[in-house]
Amino acid sequence: MSRSLIRPSLIALGAILIVGVAVGVGAAVSSELTPNEQLGKSIFFDDNLSINQNQSCAACHAPEVGWTGPLADVNEHGAVYEGSIPARFGDRKPPSSAYATVSPIFHMDKGLFVGGNFWDGRATGEKLGNPAADQAQGPFLNPKEQALPDSACVVWRVCNPVLPDDYPVSFVDVWGADACAIEWPADTAEVCGAEGTTVDLSPGDRTKTDMAYGNIALSIAAFEGSAESNAFSSKLDATFSGDAKLSKLEQRGYALFRGKGQCARCHTANGQEALFTDFTFDNLGVPKNPENPFYATDRDFVDPGLGGFLKNSGSEEDVYEAEWGKMKVPTLRNVDLRPSADFVKAYSHNGYFKSLEGIVHFYNTRDVKPTCVGDFTEAQALAADCWPPPEVPENVNADELGDLGLTPEEEAAIVAFLETLSDGYAP
Ligand code: HEC
Ligand code: HEC
Repeated sequence: MSRSLIRPSLIALGAILIVGVAVGVGAAVSSELTPNEQLGKSIFFDDNLSINQNQSCAACHAPEVGWTGPLADVNEHGAVYEGSIPARFGDRKPPSSAYATVSPIFHMDKGLFVGGNFWDGRATGEKLGNPAADQAQGPFLNPKEQALPDSACVVWRVCNPVLPDDYPVSFVDVWGADACAIEWPADTAEVCGAEGTTVDLSPGDRTKTDMAYGNIALSIAAFEGSAESNAFSSKLDATFSGDAKLSKLEQRGYALFRGKGQCARCHTANGQEALFTDFTFDNLGVPKNPENPFYATDRDFVDPGLGGFLKNSGSEEDVYEAEWGKMKVPTLRNVDLRPSADFVKAYSHNGYFKSLEGIVHFYNTRDVKPTCVGDFTEAQALAADCWPPPEVPENVNADELGDLGLTPEEEAAIVAFLETLSDGYAP
């Protein structure tokens, strides 16, 4: 939530990121990548960078769905994705990996936490100077995602691609001839295909792989900040260059988004290149997603969001309790981008919502309708005209949403506006 407009300070971000954003600004129509961005792209789409050589970043962040989860049947239900190892699931819906590079380093501003990557902000950006780069080091080693046993395995596979043609720009092209000069043990392939193992490297080579692992993350972040990912090529963007005009309905939605709907108080809509997030955190009172496979093992699971991250990182009780249940305000760019009109996407941290109509109706009526008793999916709640209680009852925002007094036509206008935020608009 923002009382004042918080503009992320680009100066705070790493040099690579600034280059990426600068390209995104000027060259929305060109998909030309710098060598570093191209390398990051090859890494992003490489299935071999997972324990079973079956999962890349794009498995959960695919461009055709706005850089989020590409499986409609998953989105329609639990909305959490299986990792490289079958039957292991994460507990959150994949957010967009595009526009994530623009998030500032996690910090406190006028009493509000701001920035970082992940729904809870825990990829702070303090390590590599940029939250998206810190983030990029996570999935390869996360046992519920790509599940490789050792960061050196990622380096080994990037230095020795299974499909060299998929790397038109190689790791040494970008990071220097010495970057892959590492003495790999003969059993590296075996070690990298098994859980709980470590590649046996000399201390000097370990220093090199640690450095290379950081550089892999920086290359991914460069791609994520490139004009191909942060394209700024939606219909709304085209209106600023005079190449498109919003329809009456879309214009009405845009006005409601900034006015009566109060959306822009968190999803900042400050004209050209707006990111539709102020990178703060809020608890909207989103219900539990009863179809999250996590509940099969832990019925009482709740997601504490930012509060959980702060607790785990040693914050005082009064600090983390005030943030319990808050999630990072996501960008709304590409929220409607989908491969076909009937393709289902999931919305919010647990994917409870399956339609833009549903989530807008929730903002409008959360505090007006009766509480559903028992497990209700979004479709069941809409049919029964009630909303389930919040997943986390603490710190629910009651000031800016819940009873907006929007008519059905006004809700539809807001949805029509959200549909203008899909990149790749062709007049
Ligand atoms: C198995 C699915 C899966 C895979 C594979 C995966 N991600 Fe994610 N990604 C997620 C989920 C789920 C989250 C949210 C996790 C959280 O908030 O704790 C996420 C969060 C992110 C974010 C944060 C966006 C933001 O605005 O905070 C970025 C960026 C990202 N992933 C990039 C990547 C990259 C790069 C890779 C490959 C190295 C990758 N992801 C692999 C599921 C996946
Ligand atoms: C008080 C701040 C705030 C306001 C006001 C607000 N949002 Fe949000 N929005 C958020 C947060 C935080 C989330 C993520 C919540 C979660 O996952 O639990 C979110 C999530 C969303 C999503 C899901 C995006 C995704 O990728 O999953 C959509 C769509 C959305 N908001 C649209 C709107 C619209 C339209 C309005 C106005 C009617 C609005 N928001 C008002 C903070 C806000």
